[in-house]
Amino acid sequence: MLPASSKLDASEDGSITQAQSPLPTERIRVRDIVKLFGENEKTALRRLNEGAGKADILAETGSVLGLDRVSFSVAEGEILVVMGLSGSGKSTMLRCLNRLVEPTAGSILVGGTEVTALNARQLREFRRDTFGMVFQHFALFPNRTIAENVEYGLEVRGLDKRARRERALEAIELVGLKGWDAKYPRELSGGMQQRAGLARALCADADVLLMDEAFSALDPLIRRDMQDELRALQLKLRKTIVFVSHDLDEAIRLGGRIVLMKDGAIAQTGTAEEILIDPKGDYVRRFVEHIDVSSVVTLGRLVRPQPRLSQDCAAEAAWPLVEKGPGEVFVVTCEREIPVGRISRNRLTASESRGRPLGSLMDGGIPRAPAGAVLKSVLPLLASEPHGIAVVDETTDRFLGLLTRETALCALSGQRPNEEREPAWTGSSRTTEASPSSLWTPSQPTPSTGSPSISRH
Ligand SMILES: Nc1ncnc2c1ncn2[C@@H]1O[C@H](COP(=O)(O)OP(=O)(O)OP(=O)(O)O)[C@@H](O)[C@H]1O
Ligand SMILES: [Mg+2]
Repeated sequence: MLPASSKLDASEDGSITQAQSPLPTERIRVRDIVKLFGENEKTALRRLNEGAGKADILAETGSVLGLDRVSFSVAEGEILVVMGLSGSGKSTMLRCLNRLVEPTAGSILVGGTEVTALNARQLREFRRDTFGMVFQHFALFPNRTIAENVEYGLEVRGLDKRARRERALEAIELVGLKGWDAKYPRELSGGMQQRAGLARALCADADVLLMDEAFSALDPLIRRDMQDELRALQLKLRKTIVFVSHDLDEAIRLGGRIVLMKDGAIAQTGTAEEILIDPKGDYVRRFVEHIDVSSVVTLGRLVRPQPRLSQDCAAEAAWPLVEKGPGEVFVVTCEREIPVGRISRNRLTASESRGRPLGSLMDGGIPRAPAGAVLKSVLPLLASEPHGIAVVDETTDRFLGLLTRETALCALSGQRPNEEREPAWTGSSRTTEASPSSLWTPSQPTPSTGSPSISRH
């Protein structure tokens, strides 16, 4: 099934194809949400707008600043993970989305509807049609069977018994509980009850799922299974999911973008990889410290761009291109820029190579890996390839740059190449906020289509 957000093009023969780079459709847009808990919301909001901090607002007005001008967007079919320490405002944020918690100020657009502007009846209907919720403690009705629990949302909507049971059984099967529909919640383990909770959210047909620490009560192995299954389900069903968690490993496994909250405000937003590479401040750094870099960082981030050396190019024409840049081994490509071999600097610049095409001088064959692969997946290959791996574009196989052992080791040890022993991103001893840009390259490097250029590295 194509993602709902894809732009579809009809080709000349009438068939439908997916456009090259579809723009994701925004499903949720949250702007400047403030939540103040307490009696004096208005005074507290005025003080916030005047620049007062959380502690001052509490001392002066008795109000707790739960959310401090929070803004983010969620694309259709995306999993966004809201993370942060206990009390950082995750649940409050999630509950503001469907106004289970009433925001004090700000805008919440869901599919173009301004949720904050809905009256009570509209809000009830909008919630029912749009949102499914899954909580940490399953919240199943103890006196209803699993099927009756799962179909509850459809029952409230007035769907007839046969139709709703059919849908409930489908959802129950989807979450791996086939055959358990007639049991009561007490007859199921915690993990199974959580699956039933998920089935209930899926059954209601809402396309936005709000999940608050949904897997936190499960033991680690079951929890990982559930994370994998949610991800697989999400790819299949294309739901938009906002998932609250305090666990970065969970966020990484779910694979979505992360909104990291601190004291009711957003400390950083980005993919796990972006946050790991460039954590903004000590709070974020502490979150990422224990993460295994090699299972998060992708090769596209680590490649060293090289001059483009075509196999038809004469050796002497390539001399100026390699003269100033680093590297002792260069990748040679065919006319479609796909790596076909490699050549050492010595061989390339030897006077007897002058005038000969690189194709006749190179060693044919070179290991390749796609830019989106994580470092961990190529470590065994890199161990047996002293001259590095050619990293290529996932769809076109075009050469993007070389992954060397040196760069890989630097990434693994948190250092930048050719620099002093300053941690690049784990950061506990860092004193500046400078981005480690000398090591890291953008995740989707776009090779130039112009004349060959020397790497900046
Ligand atoms: N109903 C309420 N009345 C007053 N203060 C509240 C209320 N609900 C939340 N808060 C405050 O808002 C802040 C954020 O709470 P929230 O429950 O959103 O945190 P959380 O990040 O979900 O934490 P946890 O990980 O422990 O679930 C806290 O300071 C909390 O005390
Ligand atoms: Mg919470």
